[in-house]
Amino acid sequence: MSKTFWIGWLSVLMLSGIDVVGAQGQAPAAPAAKPAAGAAAGAAMTPSARVESTPKGQLKNPYKDDNAAIVAAGKGLYFHTGCNGCHGGGGGGGMCPPLTNDIWVYGGDDDTLFRLVALGSDALLAKGYTRIGMEHVVGPMPAMGAIVPTDDDLWKIITFIRSNYTGSPASKYGTPPDAAPPPG
Ligand code: HEC
Repeated sequence: MSKTFWIGWLSVLMLSGIDVVGAQGQAPAAPAAKPAAGAAAGAAMTPSARVESTPKGQLKNPYKDDNAAIVAAGKGLYFHTGCNGCHGGGGGGGMCPPLTNDIWVYGGDDDTLFRLVALGSDALLAKGYTRIGMEHVVGPMPAMGAIVPTDDDLWKIITFIRSNYTGSPASKYGTPPDAAPPPG
């Protein structure tokens, strides 16, 4: 099962022209790959570095999902980094779990989602996180923290995911009663 995930994912990367092995070569066409100056507080860093340098619970999305420009940029990055190959173009799920419903595998708050995408599910579990929800597909989520170019880019992707949410409003940022308060 997990082999299928990886093969599917790698072919998506190849189709979208991403060079996974070496970062040299043609700059990708998507302008979204360049961090927008001043968009997030502090200098941009890779999502992996951001996770390492931020205490648990303190990662917070600087963007709101009513910001159409950020949602559009996030959508571009979502496709460019190959999330759609596993989660479907709108995040509704494909061969992997949907991102749009109110079932959250490890939690639906900003901090947990950022860490899950950056570290992957195996590393997240190794850091003491536990599975709290079951989707129709259970498999490993790969570490994307070195593939999504910057932390700012990952927040844009998460904003795009938030904008596609279709579940109960009360569970958008996590399932009550453990839900983190909505950003505001
Ligand atoms: C190789 C397939 C694959 C790719 C590529 C992938 N994911 Fe995942 N993702 C998964 C799987 C499988 C899970 C479920 C993990 C589990 O059950 O432990 C998951 C879980 C998630 C979740 C949690 C969903 C929930 O309901 O709690 C989010 C959010 C997520 N992925 C976002 C992303 C983003 C953003 C990208 C692109 C940067 C991405 N994924 C790329 C396979 C993938």
